[in-house]
Amino acid sequence: MMICAPVITIDGPSGSGKGTLCQAMSQELKWNILDSGAIYRILALLVLHHQVDINSEKAIMPLAGNLDVQFLFQNGDLKVMLKRVDISIKIRSQIVSDLASRLAVLPRVREILLNFQRSFRKLPGLIADGRDMGTVVFPDTSLKIFLDANLEARTYRRMLQLQKNGVSVNFNELLFQMEKRDERDCNRSVAPLILRDDVLIINSTHIPKQKVTEIALDYVRTKLT
Ligand code: DC
Repeated sequence: MMICAPVITIDGPSGSGKGTLCQAMSQELKWNILDSGAIYRILALLVLHHQVDINSEKAIMPLAGNLDVQFLFQNGDLKVMLKRVDISIKIRSQIVSDLASRLAVLPRVREILLNFQRSFRKLPGLIADGRDMGTVVFPDTSLKIFLDANLEARTYRRMLQLQKNGVSVNFNELLFQMEKRDERDCNRSVAPLILRDDVLIINSTHIPKQKVTEIALDYVRTKLT
């Protein structure tokens, strides 16, 4: 009999702290990680690199069907590897962020990425973060978290993350871009970011990250026992 690995899904808007929570839980539980946003970002990087027409879904599809991606911990940081090359910082640029959100509305591209994302489901378990992890990619799991925070807090966190990577940004410009991306992620016709009633909602606006991790781990442990 095949044993299906358990999955914790963490959905929510950009900058809500999904990545941080996902990494903290993965280190605690020793489960695998899927950063699905990184997959859309990698696709954007490849589209830019190969100068593919971003208006042609047909031209983008072969790139989506041929990805070699790994998520690895190195000195406590999660590294995103494409064909064994560390592209963790490259995929966080503004141009990549914006293009990733445009590519994420393409239905056939999303369809191709479904099986690829599901291939990360391996024992002892997977923690998957994104927008549609609990609704579309792993709807069968009962361990679903929705992490939220207000736009200002999310923009501030994203600004600090970019600064850490050596990129200086204007807060108001970034806030405007995040708002535009939120709108695209929530209003697209395929797999939009939506809140269902089968999830644990955590609003991290005024809660320190250690507390968020504690709440999430308590929820998972209670469900698993
Ligand atoms: O979480 P992030 O900012 O790294 O995601 C990058 C883009 O990819 C974002 O605009 C939303 C999109 N995305 C998506 O549509 N579905 C997912 N499961 C994850 C990300």
